[in-house]
Amino acid sequence: MNVLAISGSLRHGSLNTRLLRALREEAPAGVEVTIWDGLKEIPPYDADDDGVPGPPAVDAFRRLVRGADAVVFATPEYNSSIPGALKNALDWGSRPLATNAFRNKPVAVLASSAGAFGAVWAAAELRKVLGAMGARVADVELAVGHASEKFDENGELIDGDVRQGLRDAIAALVAEATPNLAAA
Ligand SMILES: Cc1cc2nc3c(=O)[nH]c(=O)nc-3n(C[C@H](O)[C@H](O)[C@H](O)COP(=O)(O)O)c2cc1C
Repeated sequence: MNVLAISGSLRHGSLNTRLLRALREEAPAGVEVTIWDGLKEIPPYDADDDGVPGPPAVDAFRRLVRGADAVVFATPEYNSSIPGALKNALDWGSRPLATNAFRNKPVAVLASSAGAFGAVWAAAELRKVLGAMGARVADVELAVGHASEKFDENGELIDGDVRQGLRDAIAALVAEATPNLAAA
């Protein structure tokens, strides 16, 4: 099973990207997690550019999502919501609505932030957006607060509870995606 992992943060030292790296380490045998690094290449959504072909970065993104058995997100919270770059990519990904690349796609949402609440609002917003697009949103809630304290100076996740949360999250996502594979 191949799982596409999308960080909502562009910055090099992103805690959310580190969380996805730790998720990759915790993935069970047979589950390959690939972290996408193309978010910054996605142009601002413009319906006038949304044709066939679309912008190359957008077409590549949609192909990646279509080819994945499942998608996992890790998002920070920006002003009580999800970062604009992530929302923008999802707006591209949501078109055309009826046949969009995320429709029926098993997805899971992780979140982390420097604050105490671990980006719970951002996670809720992201689940809402993905649900509106027709994705199958797995029942996963992992919001990592005080995230900077959970990683060492090399960016390695050092919190056992969060590692367990990641194992539970990937198991829930795999379970959500398994009927897809059985039907394939
Ligand atoms: C524009 C902006 C808005 C932010 N708003 C929030 C917020 O509403 N709630 C929160 O907990 N953290 C907020 N933060 C802090 C980020 O969640 C925190 O920096 C987080 O670690 C960023 O994720 P990253 O490490 O993956 O880049 C904000 C940061 C930025 C840059």
